[in-house]
Amino acid sequence: MIGIIKGTGACLPEKEVDNNELARIMDTSDEWIRERTGIIRRHLISGETTVSMSARAAERALENAGVAAEDIDMILVSTVSSNVVLPSTACAVQELIGASRAVCFDLNAACTGFLFALNTAQAYFHAGVVGKVLIIGAESLSNLVNWADRGTAILFGDGAGAAVLVAGEGEFPQLVMQSNGTKGDVLTCSSPFDRGKDSPVKADMAASQGETYIQMNGQEVFKFAVRQVPKCIEELLEKCDKRPEDIDLFVLHQANARIMEGIAKRLKTDISKFPMNLMEYGNTSSASIPILLDELHRSGRLKKGMKLVLAGFGAGLSWGATYMEWDA
Ligand code: ACO
Repeated sequence: MIGIIKGTGACLPEKEVDNNELARIMDTSDEWIRERTGIIRRHLISGETTVSMSARAAERALENAGVAAEDIDMILVSTVSSNVVLPSTACAVQELIGASRAVCFDLNAACTGFLFALNTAQAYFHAGVVGKVLIIGAESLSNLVNWADRGTAILFGDGAGAAVLVAGEGEFPQLVMQSNGTKGDVLTCSSPFDRGKDSPVKADMAASQGETYIQMNGQEVFKFAVRQVPKCIEELLEKCDKRPEDIDLFVLHQANARIMEGIAKRLKTDISKFPMNLMEYGNTSSASIPILLDELHRSGRLKKGMKLVLAGFGAGLSWGATYMEWDA
């Protein structure tokens, strides 16, 4: 048994902030941001939360799949930026959508999170213990960004995407998943609860405040992405006995346009096979792949039988790719 995506949904905050608006609050420009990243605007929460966006995306995915919330066996949420620590975002979503039978938990693999959630769900389908699973990637990264750091603040956006998987006949999907914790320092964000060696009772909260925002070595992240992602996709294609030209679309984490171009070039594949929506939403971390899948699905660009490679990459470092044939 495998899980087959039967429906998708997304939720973006209403508030849109374009590059010019950012240029009014920090020393940057529309031209610089577009040229270096491809990003034009992003949606930022203003009233919405990671939980509320997850629930909305989930409801849309369930409706799209024609599946009732009560029939869901498992809810998996990938997030690094939820408004809740306890209960899990997945349990909070369960309550909001009424998925009373589901077992619920969260997973943190940063921008690779949705892909790892998808693969985790597939393992449960393969074990025969679930029949319907809801997976969600949701982020409110605007809460983790230091708005005084123009090197990171311009990159990220908020949003949520979801997919409903239903058990069907098929081989366990080919996939590649990797992590390298020794390179974790290129993209970090300490927990506000980490007070080092001090007792939490005595800790000076202000002293560690700076580290509780996203800190990034942009050039190292860039090099990692354009080196490791093509290698990982090549390894996947070899496992599937396919070549890049056999693939209809490469649905990648939407980090930035130059990373996409670098990956496409290394795979000697036309950039038109790498759909992008980062211009509109920025980098929404684990939400980016399901938001893009939803757009491709609803616009009719995904056709039954299409051969897709999904790939995620980000903090950890973690990265991975999965092959699937579209069957919604
Ligand atoms: N506006 C204007 N100037 C800026 C800005 C900004 N927003 N940010 C940095 N600069 C300046 C720097 O201060 C520097 O100035 P200097 O030459 O006077 O010192 C100059 O621009 C060049 O800075 P670099 O950091 O070298 O710029 P670079 O070409 O590397 O581009 C960027 C930065 C866009 C972050 C790039 O490194 C990148 O795309 N990295 C990948 C990071 C990424 O996608 N992270 C997402 C999270 S991880 C993930 O999703 C995989």
